[in-house]
Amino acid sequence: MLVRLPGLVDPHTHLRDLEWSHKATFTSETAAAVAGGYWAVFDMPNTPPATTSRSALDTKLAAIGQTAVCDWGVYAGASQADNTAEYAAMAGDVCGLKIFNNSTTGSLLLADQPTRDHHYAAWPDTKLIAVHAEEDTVLDILALVRKYRKRTHFLHISTAREIQYLQAAREEGLPVTVGVCPHHLYLTQADEAALGAFAIMKPGLKTAADRDALWQAIASGVVDVVESDHAPHTLQEKQSDNPPYGVPGLETTLPLLLLAVSEGRLTLERVIELVATNPRRIWGLACPPDTYTLVDLNAAYTIERAGLFTACGWSPFEGLRVTGRIRETWIRGCKAFDGEQVLVEPGFGRNLFGTSA
Ligand code: DOR
Ligand code: ZN
Repeated sequence: MLVRLPGLVDPHTHLRDLEWSHKATFTSETAAAVAGGYWAVFDMPNTPPATTSRSALDTKLAAIGQTAVCDWGVYAGASQADNTAEYAAMAGDVCGLKIFNNSTTGSLLLADQPTRDHHYAAWPDTKLIAVHAEEDTVLDILALVRKYRKRTHFLHISTAREIQYLQAAREEGLPVTVGVCPHHLYLTQADEAALGAFAIMKPGLKTAADRDALWQAIASGVVDVVESDHAPHTLQEKQSDNPPYGVPGLETTLPLLLLAVSEGRLTLERVIELVATNPRRIWGLACPPDTYTLVDLNAAYTIERAGLFTACGWSPFEGLRVTGRIRETWIRGCKAFDGEQVLVEPGFGRNLFGTSA
């Protein structure tokens, strides 16, 4: 059965390019996005040069503007440097401010609460703050949300305890939203031995009880968004002695959610909320006319390397049989993907935020 899903948005991707174009490019990863059914993706700032200044932002805006095949937004990244004044001038052109509060790929860690506080104080209310926060760090960030009342999206929440903190924050009336990732919904620490470096990401895989708590939080409404945290690294890097954190996800997120629909674990209506209407609402976007994805709910296939558009060319879900296949992706009246090929040219994508939108 073919169904139409309106304007999918993935607010959490690492598209690489610039000095990391050996990993992937804006063109290759936005191609993965349209093949994965997305209208738009938002790019994280932890790629050299990090998006922590007006000039680095301009470099990224120019490059992604010329090369993306889907619509897009980019985050500013909070930095240790005392340049918060510069951020107010960047806010107009970005989808939000990203603060890394626990260590991961790149060098953007803000480990001390006073620096986080400066960023919370300086960031304009017009755009939200998206945070990487794990375990007790969630409480540190909630203290800032309580103090400044600035809208905050908690990315890739992965444990039962974090869900409890955020559920309580919601009940308290704090302006927080919650994202979870497919790898934390479908994989646990029990998969680490078989997956090797393909199971290495931040936050790491957790217990079955944590995974179950995430599904429960999807059912209860505490989770607003399923986001991929698409983070391609080359096979060579992943197979090295020191594999970097991160897994690709743009092409597997929707099929995995549709698998859950076919198994009766989710309704299609809830999937649409998690990948389309909720991210659009949270980031204040309207779905453009004729922007939708056609999926075949009954088509089953096995996730394989050969079918992937991401430049990294691998997936932690290789070999998994899913039910639900992306047949077409339409963006602003143009067929961007026909089930096999990407049909739009680099530069077709538009900035959904700011002056060039
Ligand atoms: O696994 C991850 N990879 N988690 C992050 O927070 C960053 C990402 C990356 O950029 O590779
Ligand atoms: Zn991420």
